[in-house]
Amino acid sequence: MRLEAIHADITTLHVDAIVNAANTSLLGGGGVDGAIHRAAGPGLVEECRRIGRCPVGEARITGGHRLPARHVVHTVGPVWRGGDAGEPASLESCYRNSLALADAADCASVAFPCISTGVYGYPLEPAATIAVRTVSSFDAARIERVVFCCFSVGDLAVYERLLAASA
Ligand code: APR
Repeated sequence: MRLEAIHADITTLHVDAIVNAANTSLLGGGGVDGAIHRAAGPGLVEECRRIGRCPVGEARITGGHRLPARHVVHTVGPVWRGGDAGEPASLESCYRNSLALADAADCASVAFPCISTGVYGYPLEPAATIAVRTVSSFDAARIERVVFCCFSVGDLAVYERLLAASA
C-alpha cells in the first residue's frame, strides 16, 4: 500500500473512497463534513438518514452521489479531552474501521482528512502519528493507495515528516 500526503480539498479528489469526519448523527455538520455534504448533494444525507447513528470509533459506508469518489466512508472521531479518556484508541479505530469498509467495497484508493483535529480539538501531531501507524499496519486485500488529504500546508508538513520517518 502506497501512502502519500497532499494539500487539497478532499471533495475534489478522484479516488474510490473519501473518508468523512462525521458526528454520531451522520446528518452533516461543519468542517469537512459540511463540505462533503455540500458537494455530494441532498442524496447523501438521505442515505445517511436511512443508516441511522454511528458510534464514536465506528464507520459507515455510503455512495458518493455527486462527488467524484464512488464511496464516502463516514467515521466519528473522538472529541479531545486531554488524552486519558480513550481518545487514542477511538481514533485508531476510526482509521482501521474506515479502511476495512473501503477494502470490503473493493476500493483501490482511499483519502482521509485529518480526523478529529478540527472542531474535535485533537492535537495534530499525535493524531497524525496514529493515522500513519494505523494505515501502515493495515493488511489490505484491495486498497493500493492511501492519501492523507491535508487542508493546510502546516498539516501537510507534519504528515510529510511522519511519512518520511516511517518509510
Ligand atoms: N477537505 C479536506 N479537509 C478538510 C476540509 C476539506 N474540504 N474542510 C475541513 N478540513 C479539515 C480541517 O481543516 C481539519 O484538519 O478536516 C479536518 C477535520 O476537521 P473537522 O472537519 O472540524 O472534523 P473533526 O475535528 O473531526 O470534528 C467533527 O465537526 O463538522 C463537524 O459534523 C462534524 O460534529 C462533527 C465535527
